[in-house]
Amino acid sequence: MTIKDTISTTAVVGSGYMGGGIAQVLALHGYKVMLGDVDGETAERARVRLVEQAKDFEAHGLLPEGASKIIDANLAAAPSIEEAVAAADYIAEAVPEEPELKANILRRVSAAAPPHAIIGTNTSAIPIRELAPSVTGPERFLGVHWMNPAPFIPGVELIPGQETNPEVLDRAEQLIRSLGKTPARVADTPGFVANRLQFALYKEAAQIVDEGTATPEQIDAVVSNTFGFRLALFGPFAIGDMAGLDVYESAYRTLEKAYGERFAAPEALVAMVKDGNLGLKSGHGFLDVDPGNKTALLAYRDNAYARLSQLRTDLGQAPAL
Ligand SMILES: NC(=O)c1ccc[n+]([C@@H]2O[C@H](COP(=O)([O-])OP(=O)(O)OC[C@H]3O[C@@H](n4cnc5c(N)ncnc54)[C@H](O)[C@@H]3O)[C@@H](O)[C@H]2O)c1
Repeated sequence: MTIKDTISTTAVVGSGYMGGGIAQVLALHGYKVMLGDVDGETAERARVRLVEQAKDFEAHGLLPEGASKIIDANLAAAPSIEEAVAAADYIAEAVPEEPELKANILRRVSAAAPPHAIIGTNTSAIPIRELAPSVTGPERFLGVHWMNPAPFIPGVELIPGQETNPEVLDRAEQLIRSLGKTPARVADTPGFVANRLQFALYKEAAQIVDEGTATPEQIDAVVSNTFGFRLALFGPFAIGDMAGLDVYESAYRTLEKAYGERFAAPEALVAMVKDGNLGLKSGHGFLDVDPGNKTALLAYRDNAYARLSQLRTDLGQAPAL
């Protein structure tokens, strides 16, 4: 049995920036999508915009040939959010990030949806446990957090709440995979993983600007050309293991002297170094890389960085930046 045997009709409630992109991806992969918004006209305007945008994506080769026709055929606008969800097997909630508004919409959506419908909220940072009390049947509710722009970013965080049925989580994961996306299950904490990290970086960057150390333009150039470039391919732990954890520990000592406790080396890192686990060069680090695969990993890295560098040259500087 595939996920399409249990999910064929979907609804997207809040057909703005994120909801619109999610709707395009669902429709492109053969799911029927009903758009729900503040009223039927707004939903219809969104439908027209999304089909036009899909045509543009297709014309630029960003979506396969025929994609906009499929999206057009599978996308419909509903007069109300109740009508949008009435026959849905899966519902994506993507109204603005205001806890009261989301609670109210989730109350309405879960009252009007069939009992079997899975409801995934696209909240950026609100814990699922804070939204779940508004959902009738919270066992079918979870966080399904897409990134912007939804048609092109591969990763989607899946966040079960305290009451989410594990089978619902499994099915949401199958759905996301059926859309060609890469799901990551993460725990229900504010900001989850992606935004907690992203916002920590943003805050430090703003502080560097406040101190007069660098301008926003300089910081963006440094990030996108140095460690941000690496982050397109590897996460912080793989990068740390490749750099050497002893190197990280020494750098933290210098940073702690300058910026205090918040830059003290993480305890787990100190323990690793103490035990002689320095990452790739000693065989063990935060990730367990089989020493037999070390050469292949480094060759992959070098090839990937060289090709990414070429891609950036081919693309040229982003306009207006
Ligand atoms: N913008 C991003 O980069 C981004 C990325 C990931 C997650 N998110 C999250 O996605 C959600 C939506 O964000 P967005 O940027 O797409 O917002 P948006 O403002 O572009 O879209 C929100 C949509 O909800 C509709 N809406 C507002 N009130 C409504 C109501 N009472 N009933 C029905 N529809 C209503 C609006 O008309 C609009 O179409 C938020 O939770 C946000 O945190 C946003």
